[in-house]
Amino acid sequence: MTLWEGRLGSEQAPELMELTESLSFDRRLAPEDARASRAHVRGLARGGIITAGEAAEIIDALDQAARELADGAFTFARGDEDIHTALERRVAEIAPGVGGKLHTGRSRNDQVATDLRLFARRELAVVGGLALDLSEVLAARAEDAGGAYLPGYTHLQRAQCVLLAHHLLAHGWALARDVDRIVTTARRLNVSPLGAGALAGSSLPLDPEGTAADLGFDSCFENSMDAVGDRDFVAEALFDLALLGVHLSRIAEEIVLWSTQEAGFISIADTFATGSSMLPQKKNPDIAELVRAKAGRLLGHVAGFLATLKGLPLAYNRDLQEDKEPLFDSVDTVRRELVAMKGLIATATFNLDRMSEAASDEGSAATDLAEYLVSEGVAFREAHRVVGSLVREASTLGGASIADLVRAHPLLGERALGLLDPAVGVARRTSPGAAGPAAVARQMERFREGIASYRRRVDDLLALDDRER
Ligand code: ARG
Repeated sequence: MTLWEGRLGSEQAPELMELTESLSFDRRLAPEDARASRAHVRGLARGGIITAGEAAEIIDALDQAARELADGAFTFARGDEDIHTALERRVAEIAPGVGGKLHTGRSRNDQVATDLRLFARRELAVVGGLALDLSEVLAARAEDAGGAYLPGYTHLQRAQCVLLAHHLLAHGWALARDVDRIVTTARRLNVSPLGAGALAGSSLPLDPEGTAADLGFDSCFENSMDAVGDRDFVAEALFDLALLGVHLSRIAEEIVLWSTQEAGFISIADTFATGSSMLPQKKNPDIAELVRAKAGRLLGHVAGFLATLKGLPLAYNRDLQEDKEPLFDSVDTVRRELVAMKGLIATATFNLDRMSEAASDEGSAATDLAEYLVSEGVAFREAHRVVGSLVREASTLGGASIADLVRAHPLLGERALGLLDPAVGVARRTSPGAAGPAAVARQMERFREGIASYRRRVDDLLALDDRER
């Protein structure tokens, strides 16, 4: 049986179904489809399109079908092209006659758009929550790190030494921006398309405002064609997830680098490391490598889906069915990444001795020496030149050490010698947002406050799913 047997007869070529079906992946929208259907039925009853008794009967049938789907007891039929078709068919079987009224004033076009918005709203909130969990681990590790320091790099060359806490929080702020973006996207998408019908609304007294409120949407569509043709929210969600994945890949790349024997800054816990099938000594950072790699597929989904949307005429086109797989995959990928990275970072050991040893490279103090000269009244350009030539001299074969040269320099001398100690240097980074202990303590406070406020926004979003009229 097909939904359109009145027009096209009841048989379809198997080759058609093979390509056009979406049940194989959109069955995961079953809970959203059942919820949106219940709201739709209540709306039909409010409009007097069906009686309260009919509504109750259809809702009971929907509940039963949804339970069957959740328990795996649901048997799909050959003609079930997608989850919407399957659920409606089952409702009509459970409640013969009245079940045929479920789809009154509704199209799969507004139905699928509604389902996917409900799905995206919740999943983005879940991802936001997981990103906050990881941010909290970064904050906790930063707090534990206390005054530990390591070289900060530009161009992957040692630049100035920084607190380990500062370095970890730098990644934390990127994640906080991700959560901000995700929450904003979820709020912006929280507009109901239900009641738009196939594209033009309906002659029946539907109650789109009421169904929107029922489903926890903040508002309802203004234009029925836009409502069924719009997938901006999918593109935005894919971008937010891709950027989050890119941020994770940057953390991951540092974990790969830091865990090399060459750097030795970090030891991954055995439970979060992998071995080699042939090389007995190996301990590999596979989580970090895969997180680095998966950023590629995430950003592929953004580019791919924008290409799907490009040039689509209004309103609904079957092309839009291609919205689901990238969204599902991006959500699943990022969720798994966040959980794995949280465990990896929570259990890794920071080798603080190796870090401070690397930071004690005298060259890392060059900027501190130049700033010392500035505080003595030397123009920065001149100070840069003076220190630069000291470093150059020290780097020539058989040259004196930077310490010797500093001691002997008329503008520097004994008083500046202490700056070569990285602990002294880092403590002097006191400007707002700087890498030294005093500034980092203030930063940590703000970071914690930010995380707490994002947590409230994520929880508000999650609460929309518990509320059903
Ligand atoms: N499975 C379809 C999708 O995901 C549902 C909407 C079908 N609408 C239609 N006019 N064929 O987009």
